[in-house]
Amino acid sequence: MEIHALAATTEWERRVALTPDGVRQLVGKGHRVSIDPGAGSRSGFCDRDYTEAGATVGDGSGADLMVCVERPDPARIAGASAVLGLLDPLDPLGSPDALASLVATGTTLLAFELVPRTTRAQTVDVLSSQAALAGYQAALEAAVRCDRIFPMLTTAAGTLRPANVLVLGAGVAGLQAIATARRLGAVVSGFDVRAAAAEQVESLGATFVSVDIEPQDAAAAGGYAQELADETERRLLEGLFEPVTSADAVITTAAIPGRPAPRLVTAEMVSEMRAGSVVIDTSGATGGNCEVSRPGETVVVDGVEVSAPLDLPSRSANHASRLFSRNVVNYVELITGSEGGLDLGVDDEIVRLSTVAADGEITHDRIRSMSTERN
Ligand code: NAI
Repeated sequence: MEIHALAATTEWERRVALTPDGVRQLVGKGHRVSIDPGAGSRSGFCDRDYTEAGATVGDGSGADLMVCVERPDPARIAGASAVLGLLDPLDPLGSPDALASLVATGTTLLAFELVPRTTRAQTVDVLSSQAALAGYQAALEAAVRCDRIFPMLTTAAGTLRPANVLVLGAGVAGLQAIATARRLGAVVSGFDVRAAAAEQVESLGATFVSVDIEPQDAAAAGGYAQELADETERRLLEGLFEPVTSADAVITTAAIPGRPAPRLVTAEMVSEMRAGSVVIDTSGATGGNCEVSRPGETVVVDGVEVSAPLDLPSRSANHASRLFSRNVVNYVELITGSEGGLDLGVDDEIVRLSTVAADGEITHDRIRSMSTERN
């Protein structure tokens, strides 16, 4: 199979879908690999590292499979049989045309966002590998921006108490944010609507915030949380008011795939927070968990910094790309036929569930109904 790694074009995107190690593994399995010039330069891999690993540098024309870390330019993928990457098929705020123009290329679209969260799929689970880094970076961002240090500090001038950090949403990113804030010495608490989250939060040495709502059994929705009814949301915001307003740093990671991010921090809560405290909102791309967040920006409200960075996994671009690349190599294995070529007809649950479109038609039921609803 001929595989080509596209360079990212978004200004803040520094990751690459294949590292030289990934190239070496693919070449070792008999595949031919090429990369866009400079594709890895922002994650610490120069073109020579790739050529030494066995890749060529070019535009990928003639490639069977294109791999990417962000939604590609349709013109770049049109000649390929398939594209595999973060394609944002569930983007709740984006224009329907963006996905439609990818579908119209006729190329088979394989989206990492749709990989099921099963044990078998863990080796290709880009959402998890990248969310873990996002959670880590969110905790660092909070520590840097907050005007109080995270650990306790005893000096001749007196003792400083550790900062209070609250993490809302305790999925992959939230749990990593909790673990990182704990390692930095903060007193950490966490909250999630999923019933299973309480034990996970507590196992990291954090306190689970108790709110008067019925926890969700997420098993029915593939492990994911569901949107709350208005009355439940009202009680949730009421219950979160005190924990949010008394925190030195609030890190929000709550998400519902395909829906705008749930609102957990209101403008009123922000105005009641201590000046100098911070909110780091990792859900900016889907509208933000905080009412005053602006995606990709930091705003200051009554002395409280509210930051919604979009590039969190990209900040650890080298490590993020290494994990991404391993996920890509593992996925390629799933779509390699017995002769070593691309086989998109494989009977594999992971491939079936992550296929968005083929031959110019959306084949994924959920994406098709989302697309019909929007048009
Ligand atoms: P996500 O990124 O979709 O959402 C992040 C977190 O926000 C989730 O924990 C969700 O419950 C929470 N959330 C949603 N609405 C909320 C609200 N109103 N208030 C507070 N929290 C809210 O989730 P992520 O991190 O992708 O994980 C999704 C699920 O998949 C989890 O159950 C996780 O344990 C599971 N998972 C399973 C894997 C496997 O078995 N291979 C691998 C990774 C995750």
